[in-house]
Amino acid sequence: MLVLGIETSCDETGVALYHSEQGLLAHALYSQIALHAEYGGVVPELASRDHIRKLLPLVDEVLEKASLSKADIDAVAYTKGPGLIGALLVGACTGRAIAMGLGVPAIGVHHMEGHLLAPQLEDSPPPYPFVALLVSGGHTQLIEVQALGEYTLLGESLDDAAGEAFDKAAKMLDLDYPGGPRLAAMAEQGEAGRFKFPRPMCDRPGLDFSFSGLKTFTLNTVTKHALDDGLPDDQTCADIAHAFQEAVADTLVIKCRRALEQCGMKSLVIAGGVSANTRLRQKLEAALAKMGAKVFYARHEFCTDNGAMIAYAGCQRLLAGQSETLAVEVRPRWPM
Ligand code: KG4
Ligand code: ZN
Repeated sequence: MLVLGIETSCDETGVALYHSEQGLLAHALYSQIALHAEYGGVVPELASRDHIRKLLPLVDEVLEKASLSKADIDAVAYTKGPGLIGALLVGACTGRAIAMGLGVPAIGVHHMEGHLLAPQLEDSPPPYPFVALLVSGGHTQLIEVQALGEYTLLGESLDDAAGEAFDKAAKMLDLDYPGGPRLAAMAEQGEAGRFKFPRPMCDRPGLDFSFSGLKTFTLNTVTKHALDDGLPDDQTCADIAHAFQEAVADTLVIKCRRALEQCGMKSLVIAGGVSANTRLRQKLEAALAKMGAKVFYARHEFCTDNGAMIAYAGCQRLLAGQSETLAVEVRPRWPM
């Protein structure tokens, strides 16, 4: 079965072709980062309009890359939510229309399930069951995964998501949107140990997170060391970035270890934009090796938003027998 996958939930237009036997055949991504950069964040209406401009050309591009034609498509999967409503509608309407024109089924996929399953696109996929840490711009969740569709929420952020905290801390350090990867790059120049940031909610039991206090701590540190232009000197900025990243990564590691112990599992999947963070991966690998457990993640380009994860998740859902009516439905808010 050849599935066309479409992702338009936020600021990336992602399209891919996944074949149930042959694997991923082609994928293409158009990032709107440059479009939104001057506003310091995603402008929803601009995002929708740009998805409209880019989506169909990307569909043609992946078909050409795979030397296939539209007639070869057996099903269409698109992101149904959560995300920006206008952006989601572009993908949903286009996906449904393509499917209807071809007389094939279409299926709406949960964006976070797409992230969750993305590591299965790699050569050594995680075996079920596993614990998953979903860390993106909008979500920080620990989930017990027994099988496809069998998900139990173990804990989540009570306020900001980890990616959101990265982006906000980056803004305080005057880094451009999207700040997460830029802060991570700056942290590499930072001196270890100059600042010690808190590891929130780690001294009490449970698997929930809170990152808003860390954000305030970062702001206070920046303000305390600010020079006349409102920012600390370059080295101090890097030291703050370093301390911030260590605190977020340590906090996530502590909770992941706890979740694995609680579930009696040895496999951890990390997914979503923040799972691209090299320091987080290093720390998790070291911590999990000590407990005889293993961490799985997708290649960098499939950690952040992409069409391949949607094509893959849609294909798994269809193979499991799921089907949908012709209604175009999107869900800007949608618990997994
Ligand atoms: O999964 P994603 O692409 O979109 C959402 O579904 O939210 O995640 C985007 C988030 C942003 O907050 C971005 O700053 C963060 O992931 N991110 C990173 C890194 N790469 C992306 N955060 C820290 N380190 C990175 N290397
Ligand atoms: Zn995402």
